[in-house]
Amino acid sequence: MTPALGRSFALDLAKVTERAAVAAAHWQGRADKEAVDQAAVDGMREHLNTIPFDGVVVIGEGEKDHAPMLHNGERVGNGQGPRMDIAVDPVDGTSLTARGGPGALSVIAVAGRGTMFSPGGLVYMDKLAVGPEAAGVIDLEAPVSYNLEQVASAKGLDLDQLTVIVLDRPRNRDYIREIRRAGARIRMIGDGDVSAAIATARPETGIDLLMGIGGSPEAVIAAAAMRCMGGEIQTRLWAGTDQQRQYAIRHEQDLNQVMTTCDLVGGGEAYLAATGVTTGEFLRGVEFGHDQAITHSVTMRASTGTIRYIVTYHNLARSEGR
Ligand code: FBP
Repeated sequence: MTPALGRSFALDLAKVTERAAVAAAHWQGRADKEAVDQAAVDGMREHLNTIPFDGVVVIGEGEKDHAPMLHNGERVGNGQGPRMDIAVDPVDGTSLTARGGPGALSVIAVAGRGTMFSPGGLVYMDKLAVGPEAAGVIDLEAPVSYNLEQVASAKGLDLDQLTVIVLDRPRNRDYIREIRRAGARIRMIGDGDVSAAIATARPETGIDLLMGIGGSPEAVIAAAAMRCMGGEIQTRLWAGTDQQRQYAIRHEQDLNQVMTTCDLVGGGEAYLAATGVTTGEFLRGVEFGHDQAITHSVTMRASTGTIRYIVTYHNLARSEGR
């Protein structure tokens, strides 16, 4: 029989993202992207390998950043316990953090072995994400205006009351034009679309949809969150260059196929923990005081649908080296 995960598993994951967030936030605004990433990866790994589970990294630091650690295929956890897939983003918003901008978080998602989609070298996906009220009414293949109308109707809103969050990239200009034409509001973000996807399912954020092309690893992590929160994400692999299109052909990846939440993170158990690095749509960033850091985290579990917000006061003087 497969051993079960401990009852405090989600909390253990939050301790991992807390450590990564505190380490990364130390570098906030110091214009050193590599230091942000390195600190977060080190912070994450340290605690991850003490947790009783047998994890394999499916979504790691790998393909886009060519990072040496927490790479795809790496084994994590203490090796004892359930066999799980794991997706990590030690900092989603590394450049943001280095610039001192808002909306970066540290995040980790875990699901049963063999249930997470691996995008390989195809690092971008077209994404459409909504919260629970609009789950089941969207269609990535339909025009922007159709999806806006569907979400507005599901939420009992007018089109001009909707807010759509979009990554500010030239490749998303058609989306931006179509959203404006339909009369909805746009919240433009420079980076960090995991936080943006989760925000669509948190009523306090006022965000109704995420639209546009962003990172594939981030889409898989967002799917784990949607499994827990009852929202929906639809995606399609996107190849912006000839090299990427050739890669898709060589690896028999279908660039037309719409992938649903469960295609990205399959059925069964899923967990997610995230800690704010810099203040964003739904989590506050790390706040430093004298020998103290305050972190704001969220944990989620798919089977129960429990969402837990955790505020932790870290005594930096006492916890150093532990
Ligand atoms: P990292 O901080 O992990 O590099 O990702 C930031 C991010 O903005 C993601 O949130 C987003 O999905 C992706 O990068 C978009 O990629 P690009 O910056 O190449 O357009």
